[in-house]
Amino acid sequence: MSSTKQSVPRKKASRKRKQPKALYGAKARARLGKEQSRCVAVPLPRTQESNDRLLEEPQAKGRTAAALMTELLEESLQNRVPVKYRLPRPKPANGSLNARETLFERFAEKLIVNPLLTRKIVSFQGSKTTPFYRWLKYKEAFSPELVDYLYDVVDDRSKRPLHVLDPFAGTGTALTRASARGWKATGIELMPVGAFALQARFVADRVEVEKFRRSLDALSSLDWRDARPDWHFPHLRITQDAFAAGTESEMSAYLRHTDQIADEDVRFLFWFACLSVLEEVSHTRKDGQYLRWDHRSGRNLGGKRFDKGRIPKFREAIRGRLMDFLKDLDLRNGGGFSRNARVVQGSCLWELPKLPEAEFDLVLTSPPYCNRYDYTRTYALELAFCGNGEADIRQLRQTLLSATVENKSKRAQLKGYYATLGAQSRYSSIEAAFDGQEALREVLILLKQARDRNELSNNNVPDLVENYFFEMAQVVFELRRSPWI
Ligand SMILES: C[S@@+](CC[C@H](N)C(=O)[O-])C[C@H]1O[C@@H](n2cnc3c(N)ncnc32)[C@H](O)[C@@H]1O
Repeated sequence: MSSTKQSVPRKKASRKRKQPKALYGAKARARLGKEQSRCVAVPLPRTQESNDRLLEEPQAKGRTAAALMTELLEESLQNRVPVKYRLPRPKPANGSLNARETLFERFAEKLIVNPLLTRKIVSFQGSKTTPFYRWLKYKEAFSPELVDYLYDVVDDRSKRPLHVLDPFAGTGTALTRASARGWKATGIELMPVGAFALQARFVADRVEVEKFRRSLDALSSLDWRDARPDWHFPHLRITQDAFAAGTESEMSAYLRHTDQIADEDVRFLFWFACLSVLEEVSHTRKDGQYLRWDHRSGRNLGGKRFDKGRIPKFREAIRGRLMDFLKDLDLRNGGGFSRNARVVQGSCLWELPKLPEAEFDLVLTSPPYCNRYDYTRTYALELAFCGNGEADIRQLRQTLLSATVENKSKRAQLKGYYATLGAQSRYSSIEAAFDGQEALREVLILLKQARDRNELSNNNVPDLVENYFFEMAQVVFELRRSPWI
């Protein structure tokens, strides 16, 4: 799923941001073909031929290409009709395909770009204003809109409630949207931050809104100077200086208030609200691959000076967040998040092999990428707040799917684990499938050659790539134990 965004070939953005003419062509053609089939696949419009058709076909129908395109996109979005563009096929340089090109050829029919799934829809941007889903900025989360769109596509094919699995569940968007339509959902997530966000949605189903409102009212009489004497923000090395001193002492006073809330659900939501404003009140911003530091942190970061704009006082930010929570709770979700949904907190590498055979109908998931993105760094503030120390963070980073150059191979550990499950032959099949990946072998050889020429930014990159794809091979192999619809 998540690879769609990355695989769209991009033209350099021109200042005017005009649609390339050829794109009109593909969209117009998709529109014209729609009468025959609900699901239209057209080649990416990169040829003279598609440009010619762009000129001819709309004329034949008496409309401009731009009008057809707009009409198609609007209709498709409304009716949730998938529109697909195939990716362009590779052109071998010397007439024969290498292993990567052969692999691409094999799956070319399945590699498609859906222009309806824009950046906004496939990322957290689409959740910023959605009740409940806006409670925590989890940059990697699906938008509920995307999940609904995809479920609608399969819903057409199945007349019974499905059981969905998301082995990299994050904040559980795939689970709660499945649950909302009466399906069953199982998720696995390792990061406590994602798991708490999902728990907050579950709690939202049952919390007594009046109790929540009363606790929020009581906040008005809190003495913000009265910090909890035994509490200070449990900083990690990489979170030092993240907050102004006044922010930490207001947070401390707030937590004293939170501790006194008798109702467990309300108390949890108040605690979670604090977790969810940490970035907002800090000198940091989760930005692209990194946690960026504002110059006011006093950290000497070199490079360009970064100013994240106004940083609100803690008391202001937390009140705003709690008000948002209350607004959403007032909408009442009717139990639609937690019904038939469950999440296992742990690593899917260890949990998937324990799941029963043939249990699931559908997987909707978005694994981490093989791109050195370190979740423990981006979410360092939240992890520290949840009580993770330096050793916990190291352990967590190693247990996550290998995506950083610090990750060590898990193969020996996994082999031993499958043996304890009496599933040695399954493990051997995974190894054989992995070893048979010629395209990957080709990539690894190239990477190692580049390392020997000192061309890599880090010498562990080949190991990272190997570890990542071995673990993903294991995940995919385990998922195959269910006969998917
Ligand atoms: C791209 S995010 C998924 C976000 C999710 N789709 C959502 O809507 O919130 C990938 C998730 O995989 C999790 N993850 C990484 N390694 C894992 C592992 N070994 N087992 C389970 N989850 C893991 C990360 O913590 C992260 O939350």
